[in-house]
Amino acid sequence: MGSPLAFRPAVKSEAKLRLALSGPSGSGKTFTALTVGSRLGKRVAVIDTEHGSASKYADLWPFDVLELTPPYSPDRYREAMAAAAGYDVLIVDSLSHAWAGEGGLLERVDEIAKRSKSASSFAAWREGTPEQHRLIGALLAAPMHLIATMRSKQEYVVDRDGEGRTRVRKLGLAPVQRDGVEYEFDLFAEMDLENTLTVQKSRCPALQGRVIRRPGAEVAAELQAWLVGAPAVTPAPTPEPKPAPRERDVRWPQDFAQPAAESAPQAEGPTGPQLERIADLLLFSESQPKAKRVTDGLRRGLADAAAGRLSKGAAGALIGRAKASLEPLGWRPEPEVPPAAEEPPEPGSRG
Ligand SMILES: Nc1ncnc2c1ncn2[C@@H]1O[C@H](COP(=O)(O)OP(=O)(O)OP(=O)(O)O)[C@@H](O)[C@H]1O
Ligand SMILES: [Mg+2]
Repeated sequence: MGSPLAFRPAVKSEAKLRLALSGPSGSGKTFTALTVGSRLGKRVAVIDTEHGSASKYADLWPFDVLELTPPYSPDRYREAMAAAAGYDVLIVDSLSHAWAGEGGLLERVDEIAKRSKSASSFAAWREGTPEQHRLIGALLAAPMHLIATMRSKQEYVVDRDGEGRTRVRKLGLAPVQRDGVEYEFDLFAEMDLENTLTVQKSRCPALQGRVIRRPGAEVAAELQAWLVGAPAVTPAPTPEPKPAPRERDVRWPQDFAQPAAESAPQAEGPTGPQLERIADLLLFSESQPKAKRVTDGLRRGLADAAAGRLSKGAAGALIGRAKASLEPLGWRPEPEVPPAAEEPPEPGSRG
């Protein structure tokens, strides 16, 4: 037996597609996944979390379907993927439920936090994040062409106008999944209500930046040529998503960007629960590459608190602003910690 670490010639035809399609309802995610997927391979499997919506296209393309029902935990997605062994093409429609669906990761993390009875979601994310990594790892390592769809939702940012008034601005559509997940795929394209596909990221040079109305045979042919011509690569799961900077970056409100250090030391500093909440928000923001400014602001807030420069009022304002910026990215406000006098609920008293 030789060493398990061995080089072998790269085989061009082994390259497998990793395509993510994101868009609002009706934009063409399922249709496009099927029309492209069925041109790339004979045996097509669809994991459908959209209540049979793929099957309405069963008269157009032959494929097998597995209707995944809740709970949509990342581990159940992986189980469904394992059942797709032997197919040429796997369509996961949609990956959004693994994040924001019933029993998806956001709910899982809430449950873990409740189970641990901690007021903070630090520990819960420590358990939840590996589940996400395992799912993304399984998607990227699938031994077949893989197309994942994601619903998209409007993103907002809170900032200030020229006169210092708070305003809410629309930033554009973002996939409903963990921030940056789209960059794990070889190709990421957004679809709009005219069924126009815009390629946002592509390792296939011929498709980079392309805008294609009602994609079909042409896109499939470009992909096929690239997959045959590309060296075989089985991407390894990466520990953290590495998204490129982009326009819908969260803007940290200008006024908060002024360090609190400029004000005089405060007699009444932040309370313990306030500090915990800031730290908790910081932990979440660190998992969100788009939230860099929020993260920086929160770090500064903690540093100011440590140096005795952050008042209770400023801590409250910091928490409020961070929550407003992070909620559109998936931050879930936790129930306020009950007053100390109250008895904690009995274990198992929830349904
Ligand atoms: N690539 C395409 N070429 C031609 N027609 C398309 C294409 N994509 C979408 N359409 C048209 O748009 C309709 C809606 O597409 P589809 O069902 O794929 O939307 P969706 O994004 O999956 O929506 P939902 O999120 O509600 O499932 C299709 O029935 C078809 O008529
Ligand atoms: Mg659909």
